[in-house]
Amino acid sequence: MKLIVAITGASGAIYGIKLLEELKKNKIESHLTISDWGKTTIKAETDYSLEEVKSLADYFYEHNDLAACISSGSFKIDGMVIVPCSMKTLSSIASGYSHDLISRAADVSIKEKRKLVLVPRETPLNPIHIENMLKLSKIGVTIMPPVPAFYTKPKTIEDIVLNTVGRILDQFGIEIKSLKRWSGK
Ligand SMILES: Cc1cc2nc3c(=O)[nH]c(=O)nc-3n(C[C@H](O)[C@H](O)[C@H](O)COP(=O)(O)O)c2cc1C
Repeated sequence: MKLIVAITGASGAIYGIKLLEELKKNKIESHLTISDWGKTTIKAETDYSLEEVKSLADYFYEHNDLAACISSGSFKIDGMVIVPCSMKTLSSIASGYSHDLISRAADVSIKEKRKLVLVPRETPLNPIHIENMLKLSKIGVTIMPPVPAFYTKPKTIEDIVLNTVGRILDQFGIEIKSLKRWSGK
């Protein structure tokens, strides 16, 4: 399996990083791109260097490289996750404004009817954000805000992050050991 991972400038860069780590552990081929503001949040919010994050992926593309292979529907890929997804990138996808590699690869995922998962992060949400999410949800895009589940009794931030990462990977049928599931009382 091959997946595209895009990290944009919403808060929560750690979700994208942990997703890359899990893909690596599970030997899933990852194609990574990071927006300029995604690079800023990695620096502001985590102890990872940009080079460390890039090295987690099998392939890395600059977000302004519209000639990268993932910009074309002819390149075979199994799906794409944008995590975290800013309201700006959400908006550009919802309006079909493919100005960078992230929104272009998402546009390609939609036109090729491939799995596209957005992990949008903002609070509170305004009606524009909600309408953009609804528009994309109606055409089959999975909208998965990184909302923690407390039935797993998380003890650390890592527990919370890995739960969301596990639920993202569920979308692709990839099982990670750390995901705690509710199995009834
Ligand atoms: C530290 C930091 C946190 C941010 N958090 C969010 C956020 O949670 N959600 C959001 O939509 N934008 C957030 N932004 C603003 C986006 O980075 C900004 O809208 C940017 O233009 C997004 O561009 P991109 O989608 O190309 O990464 C944040 C910016 C910074 C510097």
